[in-house]
Amino acid sequence: MGADLAEVLIPPDRLQGRIAELAAQIDADYADRELLLVGVLKGAVMVMADLARAMRLPVQMDWMAVSSYGSGTKSSGVVRILKDLDCDITDRHVLVVEDIVDSGLTLSWLVRNLQSRGPASLQVCALLRKPSAARVDIDVAYTGFDIGDAFVIGYGLDYAERYRNLPFIGTLAPHVYGGGPDGTETTTLAAGAAAAEEPVPRGASGNTL
Ligand code: PRP
Repeated sequence: MGADLAEVLIPPDRLQGRIAELAAQIDADYADRELLLVGVLKGAVMVMADLARAMRLPVQMDWMAVSSYGSGTKSSGVVRILKDLDCDITDRHVLVVEDIVDSGLTLSWLVRNLQSRGPASLQVCALLRKPSAARVDIDVAYTGFDIGDAFVIGYGLDYAERYRNLPFIGTLAPHVYGGGPDGTETTTLAAGAAAAEEPVPRGASGNTL
């Protein structure tokens, strides 16, 4: 990706090291319970795959796909289910696995939605959190890394569906998304969305500009 990458924020070995720590913690916490991991597509694919493989407990996995709508790149908390769970989570111990909690609006909606289905327990694991962007309080039981407000890509996180397969978390060079040299926003991100009156899906995983 060359010049599109500003810097490597979290290299592969740090990602895997932290995921191993989270896996050990989750193994210990759920030692006597049967756990269902719920990955939120698409961003959580990498962390879900590596977390599940780093765990020793036999877990089950299911997936949800949701679409967060907002004006331009900002999440509004208006969420649509694109793919629901295949399984019934009534009386089950559920751990939601997310790539990033940015404003927290998506997860806040998702937690309320899943809670209404009557799980025995419901917790959240998020690889990344941006505390400075938080608009709602979310109880994240397992956090990989707290990061600043940079636009992050890689390891599941995209910019306009690109860069998800990078093996590290990097920051996107401002020129790619029209930001100024200091990272301040100079244009609206979502391609073709600047003039749209309808709410538009955001162009990048959990990133607000
Ligand atoms: C990302 C991320 C979270 C959400 C976080 O998903 O995976 O679900 O945004 O943002 P929030 O805390 O501000 O609500 P996105 O809608 O970009 O979809 P993707 O995972 O398919 O890239």
